[in-house]
Amino acid sequence: MRELLISLGEGEGELTGRLVRALRAAVRSGRLAAGERLPASRVLAVELGVSRGVVVEAYEQLAAEGYLVGRQGSGTRVAAGVAGGPAAVPARVAPAEVRYDLKPGSPDLGAFPRTAWAGAVRRALQGAANRDLGYGDPAGLPQLRGELAAYLGRVRAVAAPPERVVVTSGVGQGLALLLQVLARRGRGPIAVEDPGSPGTLELLRAHGVEPLGVPVDQEGLVVDALAASGARTVLVTPAHQYPTGVVLSARRRTELAGWARAGGLVVEDDYDAEFRYDREPLGAVQGLAPERTVYLGSLSKTLAPGLRLGWAVLPSPLAEDFRRAKQYADLGTGAIDQLAFAALLQSGGYDRHLRTVRPRYRARCQALAEALRTHLPQAELQGVAAGLHLYADLPDGLDERAVAAAALRRGVRVATVAPGRTAGSVGRPALALGYAGLAEQRLREAAALLGEAVREVLNPAG
Ligand SMILES: Cc1ncc(COP(=O)(O)O)c(C=O)c1O
Repeated sequence: MRELLISLGEGEGELTGRLVRALRAAVRSGRLAAGERLPASRVLAVELGVSRGVVVEAYEQLAAEGYLVGRQGSGTRVAAGVAGGPAAVPARVAPAEVRYDLKPGSPDLGAFPRTAWAGAVRRALQGAANRDLGYGDPAGLPQLRGELAAYLGRVRAVAAPPERVVVTSGVGQGLALLLQVLARRGRGPIAVEDPGSPGTLELLRAHGVEPLGVPVDQEGLVVDALAASGARTVLVTPAHQYPTGVVLSARRRTELAGWARAGGLVVEDDYDAEFRYDREPLGAVQGLAPERTVYLGSLSKTLAPGLRLGWAVLPSPLAEDFRRAKQYADLGTGAIDQLAFAALLQSGGYDRHLRTVRPRYRARCQALAEALRTHLPQAELQGVAAGLHLYADLPDGLDERAVAAAALRRGVRVATVAPGRTAGSVGRPALALGYAGLAEQRLREAAALLGEAVREVLNPAG
């Protein structure tokens, strides 16, 4: 593989867009010739100092535009007939427009309870003492910590005395602060579920932690493999594993709690546990081993990620260090949002919102699952009816990136699973498909287009 000079520049805009523009310009100018092989996404990501997901997404976008071609086993290459200057660019390759965004991660932003939130902000401001608007305890305002303790105990069976609750700006911040605390204590390697969340892997790597992958099967995290890994800290999504959607079985919960009591630390990411459509969700693992679990949650899936509001419940030995880490990070989360959320919890408005959106998401989940069974019979749907995304196993040997690129050419954005695998791990190709933001008919249309995309990749000639 030849050296490749790609500069992302200092420009504005998100990294993926900047990389797409830089690579597109290199192909157009002929600096990258037809047939030229591009570095593996992992390699280019390291060179550019970006996450692998950024490179994967840029390659997918350029493949969808016709500049690159990807083939399993032979990597990503510059397509024939597009290099060598603007004249050789095929007639108007428009960047693929995303008409159906199935990338998981967001709730239905159109369902944000604007009126209820505005009412909660008003009540919060009316009720706030002047001192509530000053520099307070970096762990959060007592009003919210109290409400959260009650809510988490009632709904998730979390043992959360208010003094061990810290208000954060989301699971992401909770994890980042915890990594600082653990690094100072020299707790060694951190295990993660494999496959897991690309964002989480990215965050760990940004903190200089190369996670150890532990396999996930039909019962969730394989605790025997965790024990054999030597790691003393594990990051898990027991309620609805990301991305496979598996729920950690009762047997594995007991095993995990046993592992924790024997000296392990469980970091429980309860990111979408409020949504279980076929039965009541199981309580959090934290309730089984509260002194050995760090519990993390946020409003990102229930209200909106843009609120940047979340919480951590700490075992007592870590609580003070975590509070200090929060103090050094930002002196505490914004008081008005904290007070508003406390008011929303207190009035029952938060529970009401969950009761309103749950049937909507259930219907979307069912509509997408049914449409996939019709249009994508080759895929096996995994996981339980829960959360905000489905997991579709693809036939062995099918290139998930090629499927994602073919889908994007049809205006459908989906997430591939490989960016959430740890170094050296391979597994069956699969897609994670978020359904929260699209109405049922649109999901059916997206599934039909996805079916076309899979057929194109299975049978390129036809
Ligand atoms: C596995 C997982 N955990 C947590 C989050 C939410 O992070 P935050 O609360 O920082 O928005 C996400 C969001 O996509 C996620 O996929």
